[in-house]
Amino acid sequence: MLIRKPGKISEAEVTPYELYLNRRKFIGQAGRLALLGAIAPSSLAACDLKGDEAEAAVLRGGSGLPGSQEEELTPYEDVTTYNNFYEFGTGKADPARNAGTLKPRPWTVEIGGHCERQGDYDVEDMTGRFPAEERIYRLRCVEAWSMVIPWMGFPLKDLLEFVQPTSRANYVEFTTLYDPEQMPGQRRRVLDWPYVEALRMDEAMNSLTLMATGLYGKELPNQNGAPLRLVVPWKYGFKSIKSIVRIRLVEDMPSTSWNLAIPSEYGFFANVNPEVDHPRWSQARERRLGEIRRRPTLMFNGYAEEVAPMYDGMDLRRWY
Ligand code: MTE
Repeated sequence: MLIRKPGKISEAEVTPYELYLNRRKFIGQAGRLALLGAIAPSSLAACDLKGDEAEAAVLRGGSGLPGSQEEELTPYEDVTTYNNFYEFGTGKADPARNAGTLKPRPWTVEIGGHCERQGDYDVEDMTGRFPAEERIYRLRCVEAWSMVIPWMGFPLKDLLEFVQPTSRANYVEFTTLYDPEQMPGQRRRVLDWPYVEALRMDEAMNSLTLMATGLYGKELPNQNGAPLRLVVPWKYGFKSIKSIVRIRLVEDMPSTSWNLAIPSEYGFFANVNPEVDHPRWSQARERRLGEIRRRPTLMFNGYAEEVAPMYDGMDLRRWY
């Protein structure tokens, strides 16, 4: 992807999206340099951003994730037109074409099960309480394509700590809206609607696990799961459930949509694992959108350092 340098764009040409890309690129570089100690935050003002903006940039760059800062972002156009969201059709272009019927506001998320603060939470209150931060994550689909996306959102951990799980809460179950008027794909029984996903409590509390509310500095487009979706970067994309209306803290491992549909192909954990093939295709390599040559898939999608200890002692061939 071409990311133009600030100097080459005239004022007239600058769109919010291009501005975003330029700033993002700068932030990545500034963050890396600052981390390496090559430049002090105070000298950043010379690089086109004003004083406090520059310091914020260093902080945000510095909080980036290992590896992902080095990779090119997948263009906004691809992130928002090549989607899986079966509630709007099974073709990759269907969600962008059909998701206009979804009304992401007003939106209520019911939180229930084993926690102290059960209730209906307005998504606006949630985003007010838990300010969005940016996370650049790789998303690796089970179908062996991948993207690098700058998400906006808040750690699921913050929300869970707020609702105070009890000692019986072992898993967190998420449910997508069920409304065939808004989601016409639900009129076809491709899956057993509504779409359901779940995480083990330690996975849900991992600081990488994000409740996404936006991408590329903008609100989440409908086709990407507005107004609230899960992003679990070390798992195959299907765990990242969209347009969530219910979160339940439960004792027993919940059934999940893809596991129910085809249990021999989709397990509960769905960790990205190049060593365990899908029964019908290899998971060793992936095609990054926009690239021709396939690249090797990384264990836990490149996040092994942060997440591998959660699976110590587990046979990952059995618990796929
Ligand atoms: N969530 C719901 N509700 N319905 C879906 O069909 N598809 C999943 C996941 N979340 C899906 C969903 C799959 S298979 C993938 S790969 C990712 O969303 C795709 O996310 P993206 O379209 O934002 O790239």
